[in-house]
Amino acid sequence: MIVSRVAYVNGRYLPLREAVIGIEDRGYQFSDGVYEVVAVMGGRVTDWAPHMDRLDRSLKELRIRPPMSRDALKVVAREVARRNRVMNGMLYIQVTRGVARRDHPFPRQALPSLVMTARSIDFAVVARRAEDGIKVATLPDIRWGRCDIKSVSLLPNVLAKQEARDKGAFEAWLVDSEGYVTEGSSTNAWIVDSEGRLVTRPLNAHILPGVTRLTLMKLAAAEGIPVIERPFSVEEAKKAREAFVSSTTAFLMPVVEIDGAVIANGAPGSVSQRLLFAYRTHMAQEAGLPAPSQAEAASL
Ligand code: PDD
Repeated sequence: MIVSRVAYVNGRYLPLREAVIGIEDRGYQFSDGVYEVVAVMGGRVTDWAPHMDRLDRSLKELRIRPPMSRDALKVVAREVARRNRVMNGMLYIQVTRGVARRDHPFPRQALPSLVMTARSIDFAVVARRAEDGIKVATLPDIRWGRCDIKSVSLLPNVLAKQEARDKGAFEAWLVDSEGYVTEGSSTNAWIVDSEGRLVTRPLNAHILPGVTRLTLMKLAAAEGIPVIERPFSVEEAKKAREAFVSSTTAFLMPVVEIDGAVIANGAPGSVSQRLLFAYRTHMAQEAGLPAPSQAEAASL
């Protein structure tokens, strides 16, 4: 059955082709807005509280009023997932400063625009990709000084992702002026050092505070895997025991090649696999599904 897609736009659920935003929306003209991507599993939104914490923070940084309460947002989120028949997939939430005559200063009266869409993701495809691992290509990080805000201004990320794809890599790792990896174009970046410890960049204005990153840190602590928050260089990453990226839609995705250099034996490593299993168990819990067995987890 083909389900026509539905979007929530400022109070209304509309077929996608009828869903419109004014051409003077400041998100469209100035990238004056923020977003969240939340995973849906078993028809439920997952890790809702940390996503809402980050949305609140992003809105606060831009001085945009939250369009509705967290609980109301959750009602809409569930309804958007339901109307799009999304059992497993992602929910996209965007809030902009709203429609106003084009002028740089904040308008006095604009109402924030709220848009939500949802689409299905076959998590079995994601799981198969994680079995092989992905290649990354490194590129200079040319983004602005507030990458901690989940702003819709993603042009450098889009350009980096495409350049990586053109080079045959799945993700781009962005590198600062000192040769240290900041993060991926849409993921956080991690390595496993020779002692089996996780290494990932500390949170500051140069990276997005990933919700998956936060969850993985908690799971690592519970698993007794040490985590060190410090920057790592491209050279160190190429020689690392393991490397991976994390995001809401990729979960934990092993990296097996960086700029053509093969990581360890070229297959996902044991620490990554252990943590991915813990993450899948966490997601099953969030979804209200039974905990996966090792065999089931691989096909989740
Ligand atoms: N991207 N870093 C950047 C630049 C990102 O865009 C994302 C997420 C992450 C990982 O954050 P989280 O674990 O909260 O998804 C890190 C989303 C998925 C996107 O833009 O589609």
